Amino acid sequence: SLVTKRTKTLGLIIPDIENFFFSKLAKVLEMEARKKGYTLIIVNSNDSFRDDLLLMDLLVSRGVDGLFLVMSNEAYQHQTEMQEKLSHLSIPFVMIDRVMDVPCSKVYFDNVTGAYLATKYLIEQGHSRISCICNTYISNNSLSRINGYKKAMDEHGFKIPKEYIIPANYRIEGGYEAAEQILKTDCTAIFVSNDMMTIGVLKKFMECGIRVPEDYMIVSYDNLLSDFLFGIRISSIDQDIHELGIRSWEVLRSSMKSGDKAEVQDICLMPKLIVR
Ligand code: RIB
Repeated sequence: SLVTKRTKTLGLIIPDIENFFFSKLAKVLEMEARKKGYTLIIVNSNDSFRDDLLLMDLLVSRGVDGLFLVMSNEAYQHQTEMQEKLSHLSIPFVMIDRVMDVPCSKVYFDNVTGAYLATKYLIEQGHSRISCICNTYISNNSLSRINGYKKAMDEHGFKIPKEYIIPANYRIEGGYEAAEQILKTDCTAIFVSNDMMTIGVLKKFMECGIRVPEDYMIVSYDNLLSDFLFGIRISSIDQDIHELGIRSWEVLRSSMKSGDKAEVQDICLMPKLIVR
């Protein structure tokens, strides 16, 4: 109302609306918002830092009462600017999934553990030459996944030649291009750090007559593909999107209620390996 200046609308910025991970998260948040009498405005940054900034301004100018923010991976190349922007944001917000060093509430997953579990599983299956397809931008999330992979490889004394770590974008074409690089290495297994890239890898492999897991064993990340892959069983790291959404909602709601007095919350959720 005009008296309280509340609009009962909230904003959600996601980096890629085509990625099941974010569309599922958007669905959880939208349903939850509606249950509580809010309207959620969902916008897509296309993993662009400039769009992150633009969309934040746009949502604030629309009068949203609070903001859910999943920032672009590109934002990590502009940390100071992003931190500056967030420290001046005039509405309550919660950082989701991709976090940065800013004194604000955050809900995210332990990415080191996820990547460690994925790599360890490949090692347990007898592989030692394991490559890692990671994100081009050194975001906290992709760096942690690389670190988890390295941790498992180090523990077993396995070498990581430079060409084993392949940066790509978190999309189908990123995986497709990365698979071309994989073919130039001598690896026998791949830890792919998101499902969209796994689709791209499989596309390339299929075109080349390469079989999974006979020629390359893959462990993926996000665990959202099992309904779409027919005849291929791929183990994956599961991040509970429903819990991510619900916890984020609780955090945002409490900061909208208590304003400046709201306690800053740092919630780290655990991923798990789903073996197939
Ligand atoms: O597929 C999208 C990935 O980027 C997810 O694993 C999620 O953690 C995000 O940051």
